[in-house]
Amino acid sequence: MPSVVIVGAQWGDEGKGKIIDYLAGESNMVVRAQGGNNAGHTVIVGDKKYTFHLLPSGVLYRDKLNIIGNGVAFDPEGFLGEVEKLEGNGFSADNIRIDERAHVIFPYHKQIDALEEESRGEEKIGTTQKGIGPCYMDKIQRSGIRVGDLIDPELLWERLKLQVSKKNEILEKIYNTKGYNLESLYQQYREHGQKIKRFVTDTTKLTHEALEADEKVLFEGAQGTLLDLDLGTYPYVTSSHPTAGGFSVGAGIGPNKIEEILGIVKAYTTRVGLGPFPTELQDETGEAIRQKGKEFGTTTGRARRCGWLDLVMLKYTARVNGLTAISLMLLDVLSGFEDIKICVGYEIEGEETTDFPASLKRLGKAKPLYKTFPGWSADLSNITDFQDLPKEAKAYMAFIEKYLDIPVKIVSIGPGRDQTIVREEIYRK
Ligand code: IMP
Repeated sequence: MPSVVIVGAQWGDEGKGKIIDYLAGESNMVVRAQGGNNAGHTVIVGDKKYTFHLLPSGVLYRDKLNIIGNGVAFDPEGFLGEVEKLEGNGFSADNIRIDERAHVIFPYHKQIDALEEESRGEEKIGTTQKGIGPCYMDKIQRSGIRVGDLIDPELLWERLKLQVSKKNEILEKIYNTKGYNLESLYQQYREHGQKIKRFVTDTTKLTHEALEADEKVLFEGAQGTLLDLDLGTYPYVTSSHPTAGGFSVGAGIGPNKIEEILGIVKAYTTRVGLGPFPTELQDETGEAIRQKGKEFGTTTGRARRCGWLDLVMLKYTARVNGLTAISLMLLDVLSGFEDIKICVGYEIEGEETTDFPASLKRLGKAKPLYKTFPGWSADLSNITDFQDLPKEAKAYMAFIEKYLDIPVKIVSIGPGRDQTIVREEIYRK
């Protein structure tokens, strides 16, 4: 049962795509279990850059099965567009499977996402406007349309008829805007359904069989722990569960089937969208990190907010995920700073704490307490052996490991596949 869950340990954009791609090379199956095309994974192979939003990152390998699990919010237009691009680049889409239980994103979900954001004004969440929240709302409300319905023209008509009439009422009466024409939306999505039919199956069975056969299964997280609907910085979160527990539900496997939980940690912190961020640097250091780390969103192109590493936050995310190992990303971006800081505590209303508050009001008041480390100037990007890293970089990592009591098994020092230092193999057998 060799299986690894990859979770983002911060606010997403930790560089999961690269590690997923690296581990996919060793895996038989790559599974996505939550989120949708709000995610953006960049994989660099040679001098070519590939970006995925909905497709599991194993699609670049011809011999892996790639699963879009039941917990995913599935956008047929996004999916078909990515498949076209993939095939255009000479890869095959034949090794992709979509679970029939996954919920479908329709245009009205995207429109309501945008309108809802607009109506929040200053309080907006900063969503990707891909319709994720409204799609999951329908799922929770038990009125959603699933992939299994999409590929069945009769069922699709029945379900869509009801949904379009409800959504049109909302669009017209609440948002004062035009609704959808049922007939043309139906034709369009019936066609999409027929195109994706060949990919659709009960993926929970495939995943179970792979685990039973001792194949290597990689569960690919999108977003990050602090964007988890329950455990993140609510309401500035996404509408799914990008935490270790979310994989069990979103892929339809027992929690006891997960062997290793690998937390992807950026060597500093970033966040897109709004909400409190205690170690944010709104100065030239923050700007230097943004430029060096190319911290601009893969999905939206937005500039990411940047700041120092926050171990109060990581201690919390390590705990709620049960992390068993860490992959430290973008360490090369920290080269060239005279001093590097790590947050080891917060001061909130005059009191010191190492607990990450659930209340955003308290988190908004948290002043970071830093430990300062000497920086290093060497360019790390061509180093292949851990021992050759500057001693200051090793001391920085040793401190993180000790504070969290979790081993850093992988260190990433650049975007390329070969810029990955593996200290210990992730698959245990
Ligand atoms: P939604 O997922 O589009 O509803 O957006 C909700 C929040 O999650 C917003 O703050 C987004 O910026 C954030 N978010 C969604 N997907 C990602 C991601 O892949 N990386 C980082 N942030 C994300």
